[in-house]
Amino acid sequence: MVNRIPVPQAKYELLTSVRQTNWKSPVVCLTFVFIVVGSLFALRVCSDLLPSRNLESGPLREVIITTEDATIASWTRRARMYAESSKENQNADRNTTLVTAPSSRSPSSGKILVCYYTLPRTMNTTEELSPAHIDPNICSHIIVGFASVVNSTLSLGSNTQIYNEISSLKKLQPKLKVMISAGGINEQTLGFPEMVKTHANRKKFIRSVLNITRAFDLDGLDVDWEFPAWLGNNERQKIWFVQLLQELRKEFDRSARTLILSAAVAAPPAIIDDSYFVPNIAEYVDFINLMAYDLHYYVWYLPVTGLNAPLYPRASEIGYIATLNVNYSANYWVSKGMPREKIVVGVPTYGHSYQLDNVDNHGIMAPAKGFGRLGVDGFVFYSMVCWLLSVGGQRVFDQESRAPYVYKYDEWISYEDADSVTAKAEWIKANDFKGAMIFSLNTDDWSGSCSSKDGNETFPLTRILSKTLLREKLTPPGL
Ligand SMILES: *[C@@H]1O[C@H](CO)[C@@H](O)[C@H](O)[C@H]1NC(C)=O
Ligand SMILES: *[C@@H]1O[C@H](CO)[C@@H](O)[C@H](O)[C@H]1NC(C)=O
Ligand SMILES: *[C@@H]1O[C@H](CO)[C@@H](O)[C@H](O)[C@H]1NC(C)=O
Ligand SMILES: *[C@@H]1O[C@H](CO)[C@@H](O)[C@H](O)[C@H]1NC(C)=O
Ligand SMILES: *[C@@H]1O[C@H](CO)[C@@H](O)[C@H](O)[C@H]1NC(C)=O
Ligand SMILES: *[C@@H]1O[C@H](CO)[C@@H](O)[C@H](O)[C@H]1NC(C)=O
Repeated sequence: MVNRIPVPQAKYELLTSVRQTNWKSPVVCLTFVFIVVGSLFALRVCSDLLPSRNLESGPLREVIITTEDATIASWTRRARMYAESSKENQNADRNTTLVTAPSSRSPSSGKILVCYYTLPRTMNTTEELSPAHIDPNICSHIIVGFASVVNSTLSLGSNTQIYNEISSLKKLQPKLKVMISAGGINEQTLGFPEMVKTHANRKKFIRSVLNITRAFDLDGLDVDWEFPAWLGNNERQKIWFVQLLQELRKEFDRSARTLILSAAVAAPPAIIDDSYFVPNIAEYVDFINLMAYDLHYYVWYLPVTGLNAPLYPRASEIGYIATLNVNYSANYWVSKGMPREKIVVGVPTYGHSYQLDNVDNHGIMAPAKGFGRLGVDGFVFYSMVCWLLSVGGQRVFDQESRAPYVYKYDEWISYEDADSVTAKAEWIKANDFKGAMIFSLNTDDWSGSCSSKDGNETFPLTRILSKTLLREKLTPPGL
C-alpha cells in the first residue's frame, strides 16, 4: 500500500497511519511534525544565509510590472481549482482503470486550430497583443475572451470596439471563424449559477448572445463556466449546464446563420466526474476545448516543481498524480462518452514558474518555496522563457512527459517549446482528435523575440500547430 504512494503523498500517508497505531501515536506524531517543521525551518534559514545569487534584476522587475493584468486573475483561479481537485484526491485510492469506449474512429472532416485571444488591459501595442498584430492566417478559429454573464445577459464590458477589430480579421481571411467566450472572473459569484437556474434566465441569456453575435458579426459562442457543480456548488448545476447547452443549440440551429457552440472544459478527472454529463454535452456542442494545462502549479501544500501540461505520465507517478497529463485526460473524456472528433486539445503557450528551495535540486518534484520571480503568480509568457534561455537558463527535456523545463539559480519554469508542441500535434493526429486549442495568442511570442536568427517569426508555437494540423493551408486570398 505505502509503496504505491508517490513521495509527496507518502508524507501525508505516514502521518495518517502513525496516528492510527497505538498509545505512542501522539508522541510519535508530534515528534514527526517537529522533525519535519524543524528541517523545513533549518532549510529555509540555510538558504537565506547562502549568498544570494539572484537573476539579473532589471528585466525581471520590468516583467513583473508589465504583465500584471486582470486576466491573470481568472487564469490563477482555474489553476487553483485544478490544484484543489488534486488535493482532494491525493490520498484517495481511486480506481483509475480506464474503460475505453469503442471509438467510432470515423474519419473526421479536417482538423481545426482554435486560438484564444484575451482582451488586453490597455491598448499599448508595444506591451500587449493588439488585434492588428494578430496573423489571421494561422488559426481556423479565434475565440475572444472573456465576456461575463451579468444579470443573465452576456456582457462585453467597456471595450466593445475590440470585438469589431477581431471580427474584421475575417476580411483578411474569409475562412476564419471568430467566436466569443463567456466566462472570466465574474462568473464565479454572479454570472452562470444565477443564469442557468431558470428557463426564463437562460432564455434571456441566449437572446443576448444572439443579439451580440449579430451585432459584432461573430460566428459562435464558447461557454467557459469553471466549473458547474464544483467545490460545493449546487449539484443541479450539472443538469442546468446541459440544459443551457441544449437550449443554445436549439436557438443556434434556428437562427439564420449557423452559429458554432463550444465549451471550455476541465482536464482533471475529479472535475470531469463532478461537473459534466459527458454524453449529453457531446450531443449539443460542436466541440469541447479541453483545458489540458495547469496540471501542475505551485501550491503551498504540494510545494514541488511539476510540469504545466505533460503529454504522458512519468513512470514514477502513480495513483491520482498519474492521471494529471494530457493523454490520460483526453482519453478519459473519450471513455466517458465524448467522441474523439469533438475533442479539441488545449496547449498552453505560457509556462509556470517556481522558486527552488535549493539551487542544486532542480529536477521535476524538486522542493519549491513559491512562484518564480518571472511572471505573475507563476504565469510566464513564452517570450520571457526565451529570454531566460538566452541568459544562460539550462533547458532539460523530459522524455517521458515530452515536455521541457528551464532553470537558472533558483528560478524553475515548466513551459512549451517547438519539441513539446510538435509532440502534441503528432499525438492529436495519431489519436484522431478534432484539433488543438491554444491558450493563448497573447502569451505566445507574438512579437517574434524568440527567434531573431530566423527573421523573428511571430507566434512560433501556434504556427507549429497550424502547419502540422491544418490540411488546408490558410493562405491569404489573392495569393
Ligand atoms: C477497477 O475498475 C475495473 C474496471 O471497472 C475493475 O475491473 C476492477 O476490479 C476495479 N478495481 C478495484 C480495486 O476496484
Ligand atoms: C507603452 O509601453 C512602453 C513600454 O513599457 C512604454 O515605453 C511606452 O511609453 C508606452 N506607450 C504608451 C502610449 O503608453
Ligand atoms: C437585471 O435585469 C432586470 C430585468 O431585465 C432589471 O430590472 C434589473 O434592473 C437588472 N439588474 C441589474 C443589476 O442590472
Ligand atoms: C443588442 O446589442 C447591442 C450592442 O451590444 C446593445 O446596444 C443592445 O442593447 C442589445 N439589445 C438587446 C435587446 O439586448
Ligand atoms: C495514453 O492513453 C491510452 C488510453 O488510456 C493508454 O492506453 C496509453 O498507454 C497512454 N499512453 C501513455 C504513453 O501513457
Ligand atoms: C528581431 O528581434 C530582436 C530581439 O527582439 C531585435 O533586436 C531585432 O531588431 C529583430 N529583427 C528584426 C528583423 O525585426
